[in-house]
Amino acid sequence: MATETIPTLCWRNNTDGSPPALVLLDQTLLPVAERLLDCEDVETVAEAIESLRVRGAPAIGVAAAYGVALGAWHGRVFGNIARCVTVAIERLARTRPTAVNLFWALDHMRGIMDSLEGSADDEVYRALVAAAHKIHLDDQELCRRMGEHGACLVPDKATILTHCNAGALATAGWGTALGVIYAAAEQGKDIHVYADETRPLMQGARLTSWELQRRGIHVTVICDVAAATVLRDHKVDCVITGADRIAANGDVANKIGTYGVAILAQAHNVPFYVAAPTSTVDLDLASGDLIPIEERAAGEITEGFGRRTVPEGVGVFNPAFDVTPNHLVSAIITEHGIARLPYCDVLQAWGKATPSAVETASS
Ligand code: MRU
Repeated sequence: MATETIPTLCWRNNTDGSPPALVLLDQTLLPVAERLLDCEDVETVAEAIESLRVRGAPAIGVAAAYGVALGAWHGRVFGNIARCVTVAIERLARTRPTAVNLFWALDHMRGIMDSLEGSADDEVYRALVAAAHKIHLDDQELCRRMGEHGACLVPDKATILTHCNAGALATAGWGTALGVIYAAAEQGKDIHVYADETRPLMQGARLTSWELQRRGIHVTVICDVAAATVLRDHKVDCVITGADRIAANGDVANKIGTYGVAILAQAHNVPFYVAAPTSTVDLDLASGDLIPIEERAAGEITEGFGRRTVPEGVGVFNPAFDVTPNHLVSAIITEHGIARLPYCDVLQAWGKATPSAVETASS
């Protein structure tokens, strides 16, 4: 398997006194152009998250953590670091409501800030950068572990259906759902992937197929509405998706259309797996009904990618995510292992043992 790295996001320190930068691969331009975007202030990071230049729940969390570090850098220069960090956290929290990793990362950064009250600005800045680095590195490790656990569920010569993009472009590592596929391929298994195109923003067609192709995994893009056909025709061994937020009972919020795929998988007796780190589990929400679902601009549907496809004046409803009830989820793959119904107790235990970033980033 090819192992070309994908530069989803990285931190650049500048030595000449100019601001550091969060450097992102601008995903809105893929697959046509591979262009890096330097984010040197909080607003540029916030805009990048809102417009999906960086996207996918874990990657949003990592980007937001670096965004807070950028806020601290500017605060240190202007002598009001605490205020700048607070404003950065508030701004980044308003970008996208569904992926809980964003709020997990911001809460973590706020905790570091609070624990250093009274410290020198320099020390606060360095601790926040270190904390963001730790979240970044931890995500790579979590992806690895999810991949190892999940690969056991994947037979050799498997054909896997996935929806949206839950790969290297959506995380700081090799991905959640796609990480399972990469791990299975590393074990020598021969894998074929059907990637739903994922309307309206085409993350499956533009991003999933791009990164699978770079890694040498055989991929076929299908229209979202063709999922029923490939499942009915026994062409799929399992479905694997990522998640943006998982409620305490195992209900899963993920890209719009995931719920439909889960219903189809059950109708055709095909296992439906979800891969996500425990930072995606929100133990404060008893069920998926409570998960806030982002609604995005009508233009993504009426004139996506620059061509009008809906008459002027027609109403549009554009939810970015839906919720798959736990009974349709055959297993949830996390860094701790594989959970099956009933999810409550095991998610409760794993959700409390949050990723190692929490214990060590501030030490
Ligand atoms: O709107 P997006 O592109 O951010 O949606 C992303 C997804 O729905 C992913 O499946 C999810 O965040 C998991 S990413 C590992």
